[in-house]
Amino acid sequence: MNGSIVLFGPPGAGKGTQAKRIVDLTSKPQVSTGDMLRQAVSIGSELGLAAKVFMEAGELVPDEVIVGLIAERLKENDASGGVLFDGYPRTIAQAEELASIAEVSAVISIEVPDQSIIERIVGRRMDPETGAIYHTKFNPAPESISGRLIQRKDDNESTVKTRLSAYHEQTSPLAGWYENQGLLIRINGNQSIEDVGDEIISHLSN
Ligand code: AP5
Repeated sequence: MNGSIVLFGPPGAGKGTQAKRIVDLTSKPQVSTGDMLRQAVSIGSELGLAAKVFMEAGELVPDEVIVGLIAERLKENDASGGVLFDGYPRTIAQAEELASIAEVSAVISIEVPDQSIIERIVGRRMDPETGAIYHTKFNPAPESISGRLIQRKDDNESTVKTRLSAYHEQTSPLAGWYENQGLLIRINGNQSIEDVGDEIISHLSN
């Protein structure tokens, strides 16, 4: 597959969790706008300061901030054979901008009902050393590293509700936009982590 792949879905759908298997299969680098923004917030850059207030409220960061971030990232050498976008694009304006600078070959839509999302988000824990994603119930971390796990600031019940509203209002229309272009692959995200991954890999391997 020559172009880029988009991992699409609501907050907590499992985009970050599944990214590693897709990177292993395709050798495309993962480009997560959420991770890039969190990194900018943690170093206190101008971009991070601009993004922080939106992220902590659970709202989307303005398109012009994201567009600049992606344009810079796609100039790097490892992006020349396409990348795996995780959490981008998130609005029709972002998708239109992307279409003008890169080719998208497939959009993997991980579909999970809203009622499963809150439990997934509230139980999520991250390993700050490796970036690995765990869940207190669905994917517990090894005992040896449990002391260093962190919880994202926006992973609380009230912010998740705002994130879900942003998803339904601003992001979900993109599914139809990509479906009309014959690029959307619908995946049942409401099954085990392994089964979701198997379904994605079987589509990408065909
Ligand atoms: P971002 O970091 O992209 O967050 P998100 O889209 O809300 O997605 P998440 O990272 O929360 O979830 P995920 O789908 O990766 O799920 P995960 O694999 O971790 O964005 C954060 C913020 O940045 C946004 O709110 C916005 O402010 C800003 N932003 C980012 N990109 C932007 C853009 N393009 N435009 C504007 N603003 C932008 O899994 C979740 C949990 O569930 C884990 O604990 C995992 O172990 C568990 N889990 C995963 N799969 C399963 C399964 N099959 N069964 C049971 N549990 C599972």
